[in-house]
Parts: sequence; C-alpha cells; structure tokens
Amino acid sequence: MPTKTPSKSKKVVKPVSGTSHTQSIESTLPEKRLFKPNKAFAAKAKIGSMAQYEKMYRASIKDPEKFFAKQAEELHWFKPWRKVSEWKAPFTKWFIGGKINASYNCIDRHLETSRKNKAAIIWEGENFEQRTLTYAQLHREVSKAANVLKSLGVKTGDRVAIYMGMTPELAIAVLACARIGATHSVIFGGFSAEAIRDRVNDAECKLIITADGAFRRGTTVELKKNVDQALRTEAINIEGGAHTLGGCPSVEKVLVVKRTGEHVDMFSGRDVWWHDAMAEASADCPAVPLDSEHPLYILYTSGTTGKPKGIVHSTAGYLLGTYLTTKYIFDIRDEDVYWCTADVGWVTGHSYIIYGPLANGATVVMYEGAPTYPAPDRFWDIIERHGVTVFYTAPTAIRAFIRAGDEHPNKHKMSSLRLLGTVGEPINPEAWMWYHRVIGKGRCPIVDTWWQTETGSIMISPIPGAVPTTPGTATLPFFGIEPEVVRKDGTTCKPNEGGYLIIKKPWPSMLRGIYKDPERFAKQYFSDFPGIYFTGDGARRDKKGYFWIMGRVDDVINVSGHRLGTMEVESALVGNEAVAEAAVVGRPDEIKGSALVAFVTLKKGWPADENLKEKLRKHVGEAIGHIAKPDEIRFTDALPKTRSGKIMRRLLRELASTGSVAGDTTTLEDFSVLERLRAGEEE
Ligand code: WT7
Repeated sequence: MPTKTPSKSKKVVKPVSGTSHTQSIESTLPEKRLFKPNKAFAAKAKIGSMAQYEKMYRASIKDPEKFFAKQAEELHWFKPWRKVSEWKAPFTKWFIGGKINASYNCIDRHLETSRKNKAAIIWEGENFEQRTLTYAQLHREVSKAANVLKSLGVKTGDRVAIYMGMTPELAIAVLACARIGATHSVIFGGFSAEAIRDRVNDAECKLIITADGAFRRGTTVELKKNVDQALRTEAINIEGGAHTLGGCPSVEKVLVVKRTGEHVDMFSGRDVWWHDAMAEASADCPAVPLDSEHPLYILYTSGTTGKPKGIVHSTAGYLLGTYLTTKYIFDIRDEDVYWCTADVGWVTGHSYIIYGPLANGATVVMYEGAPTYPAPDRFWDIIERHGVTVFYTAPTAIRAFIRAGDEHPNKHKMSSLRLLGTVGEPINPEAWMWYHRVIGKGRCPIVDTWWQTETGSIMISPIPGAVPTTPGTATLPFFGIEPEVVRKDGTTCKPNEGGYLIIKKPWPSMLRGIYKDPERFAKQYFSDFPGIYFTGDGARRDKKGYFWIMGRVDDVINVSGHRLGTMEVESALVGNEAVAEAAVVGRPDEIKGSALVAFVTLKKGWPADENLKEKLRKHVGEAIGHIAKPDEIRFTDALPKTRSGKIMRRLLRELASTGSVAGDTTTLEDFSVLERLRAGEEE
C-alpha cells in the first residue's frame, strides 16, 4: 500500500497546528493529503492496521458466505439458518430458514449482561429536557408499546406508519413494531399530508403512530393535524353519483403521543392517546421469532420518477449489516457515547440511531431539535454536556457550521470526541479540513461513509484505525462488499476514469425490493448492467483503489443530504392550476450541496410575478414537504427540448449554475428558447 499520494507539490509542509497526531502531510491541497490513522486511536481500535483490514477484506471477498455466517453468530438467533444465502438476480435471501428478532437483538440480549442498566438512549429535547432510558427501561417501554399495538389489532405482517418527531417514543414505536413483526414505515416529520397519504396508501398501513406535534426551531409542527388531513375523505358528486376521494382506507386506528400539549382533535373510535394505552399495557411481550427474510421495514425514497419508492429491508441481513458496520466503522465500545444527528425519518436514523448501535449495546444520544436552536452552538453544547465520543453528521451541516463561525465550537470543551463521521453527500475537502481541525482538533479520524437507503448499511468507508484517508474520498469498501466503477458497456474503468458505481455481488443488508413493484425494482437497479446492482452514482477509483463519489448520474438531486427526484417536484408543480410545464434541476449551493431551480411555463392568463412564485413554493411544500420547495423559480415561455420532445435538463442545469450554456446544443429543437431563457435571467 503506497503511503504517498500523487502530488504536484512535493514540498513537505508542516502540519497545521493541532494536527500533531497525523503524519505524512505532503501537500497544501487537502484533496492530496494523506492522513494516517492516529496511533493512539489505532492502538485501541478493533482493527488497528491496514494489514489487518486487508486480510479481513480479502477473506470476506474470497468467501462472503463464510465470512458473513461467522459474523452472524454474534447475533441472537431463535433458530439457526439452513443456508447462508441465495441469489436469483435481482432477488437475494440471507440466512434462509433462520428465526430472529431485531428488537430482541437490540434490547433483550443485553439484559443478561452488565449492559442491563446501561443507558441505551440519552435523549435531549429541544427545550433542554433530558430523558435517559437504560436497556432495562427500554425493554419495558418497548414491550408495553408492542402490547398496545396488539390491542389495536396489529398483527405480524401488518404495516404500521410512524410519523413523529425525534422523541424516545419514536424509537420505542419502531422497536415495538419489530418486536411483533409489524413492518414499520417511518414517514419523516417534515412531510406534508399529501405525502403521508401516498405512503400510507402504498403500504396499506393499518395503524398510524403520531404525536400531537413536534418542537422544531422554537415553534411547533402540527403532526396530528397533518395526519387528520391525510385521512380526511371528501364526498364529491360527479355526474352519475357520489364518490369519496382521498383518505387512507386501510387505516383503522391512530395512536397519538402527547408531546407539545397543544390542542388536537381526537376522533372517537379511531384515535387513541399513547399514554392512556401505555398505562394499561402489560410489560410482558416476548419478541416474536421471525423468518430471517421477514420485512422489517419499508422506507420511501425518491427515484427518477414522480412516485417515491418503498424500499423494503429484511430482518436478519439488514440487522447484520448495521450491526457489523457500527462495530467496525464506528469502532463502537461500551464506554462510548455515540451520537448520530440524523432524523429517524431517514435511513441514517434507522440504521445508525436505532438498529446498528443498539444491536451493539451502545449508548446513543438522541436530540429532538434543530442544530442551531436556541443558538448556533447547540450541537457543541450537547457534545460537551453528554461527553459524546463518536459523532456522525452530514456535510451540509458542517458547511453551515463553518459559516456560523469557529467561535461557537471553540466555546466548548469537546475533548471527549475520538471519532467523527459524515454521510449523505460527497464532503468537500475544505469542509473535511475544518471538521478535522476545529471539531476533531486534529486528533479524531474521520470516516466518510458512502451508502444509500437501498444498501441498508455503509458500503464504502475508511476503517478508522486502519485506512489512511484523504479529504473527499470515502476510500475503501467494507467487508464482503465489492464495488466497482464501470463504463456504460460494463467494462472496468481505468484508475481515475469517471464511470458508474456498481456493486458486483449481493450483500446481507441489500434492499429486498420496492414494495409491491418487482418490475420497477428490477428495472431501476438491475437493468443498466444486467443482473448487477447499479447505485445511480457516478464515481472514480484512484490508483490506490480509493473511491471518489461524484454524485448522482440520474434525475435525482441531493439537497442538504436529502434525496429528491426532479420528477417528484415537477409533478407537484404541474399539479398547480397555473402551471403548464415545469423542469427542475440542481445548481451547486455552498451550504446545501445542491439547490433546486424550477423552470416553469405558465398557462395562459397567469401573471408571472413574485406572488405566484411564492404560491408555487408553498404548493410544493404542501404536496411533498418543506425540503422540496424550490430555492428559485424562473418563469419562461418555453423549455428547451429535443426534437423528440424531451426536456434538455442538461442545458437548464448549465444555465442555472453558470448563467449561460456552452455545451452541445445541436439536438435542440428551437434555439430561440435558450436566447429567451438567458434574456429572462438578465431582467
Ligand atoms: C445517496 C443516497 C445513506 C445515508 C444518507 C443518504 C449520496 C451518501 C455519501 C458519501 C458521497 C454520498 C449518494 C447516494 N451519498 N453518502 N459519503 N459521499 N455521496 O441516503 O437518501 O438514500 O441517498 O446519497 O449520491 O447515492 P439516500
């Protein structure tokens, strides 16, 4: 393994102050520097050298079944598997014949150890309330909640929607579902009533667990009101008879956690208060032994069409993936205080707030509110007060902190930190360096973890005690994972040649499908390179074999680490009465990574004014949620199209980010459109 990176400047520069633990800094350009694992860290780490990583990796690739079977023995099984895996592209199965329960693995098995009275969840409310649940207490709450679900008619195999803020009840609800084998579908608390309705109906959920509201940035989000709106049916009269429209016919009950205390309407026969039901519930609810392949959850994510995809994850394989990656990539130890700042509404929260760390018996910090509330130092304050040792956040948050100023972290003593992580989008080297210097004080390794909702767990990331890192690269694959960068024809790219990122073989936590849509599943992931998983990302691999992720190659945009399908936003826009046609593209944004720019043509008679722009943004907010609101709306009388009528988003992307179009326009049907778009911009 070469320890040097190719560098134009061979001059060895002095480490910046505070980086005395890192060696081999050979360039002033961060993306060319190599940071070797800090020796003190490596000495204690689970995997403490490159040789050890390479040995384990080689063994895992040579015989993945053997490798994963050995690792799976660390989980609790009610019944062992018969067969390790099966692959009939595009469908995979792992630990066939085994019986297992994710909730049992995250809770019950720790009760027989000294972890019984260890903090499982240290929760902090936005208003600084504190609640700590030990593993024994979590066990009691989850068991009671599971009995509540049963009393409301939920059975193994039913789907339950969870639409809540970041309170302990969210984790309890998730684990209660897992306990009885009800497949959970967590819907991010920022989504609108319409988005809830689509997701609940797609999964045919029987129950919705929600809260009266959530605290966010000093105000409240009216969660229950959104659920009520999603469930509302409207009777309308169409010629020939009455119809009912809307609503969620599958939903029988709504379970409501009291959080904000604000008034909500409770519909008798349908709505039940969580605290009332919990007060009556027994704390005895044994975990149900489930098939390894039992669907643990569905999580909706954006794709290239307007309709979100219900990503389905299994029980055993998913649990193993999150367990192992947490163990080795976060190098988790019993004395750690681990904090992942994601929301449980996204996959990061599922895998790295709940299943991964709890399966490892870790202490997890869970924070309810906004990163900058009531002041820009809230995160650093939490790290100091709780003694956080492992911290996992997103590049977009880091960039926002850089802008807010070093004085905020500098006010706090964060010497407890030993490991930092990022996820969600490529981290720009400047942000990496700031994270390293200002937050990690040059002492903490950074794990840049690449993965997706679909992969379930981290696929590419440095192993912190072993793999030297360079800002901007997620480095090397995790055990048992074989990613590759290929050309359109499937042949392997040369070093540093950009191409498509694929994963050659199935792995335990791979998605099992798109809910109720096997055709879309096969087409979306296994058709570009027949029978091989295509990630949708572009990447290059350098001479050392490190992966540099270059972002999405499809019509998906990464806004603040959240995936949004351009089609999804476009169909929301054309759903407005004023809009004739819309094209949505991303443009680089310093904080968000990408910002959304919508090019909109209006129907005759609608005034192209600021007022309407605001209305359209609001409209998208109502159709999807605030995260999907375009940052900019540009009215235009026509969109650039090819002769076959396809909108040339490439040109719009260029226009939105640079203000002009230099690329190839030969397939453009009407050249004057571009002229007019450009002119419109100058107005
Ligand atoms: C997409 C997946 C998986 C957790 C959060 C996002 C991008 C994710 C990285 C990274 C570069 C990254 C990719 C990927 N992405 N992590 N470390 N470096 N890009 O989950 O919403 O399913 O989005 O996020 O483009 O495909 P997601």
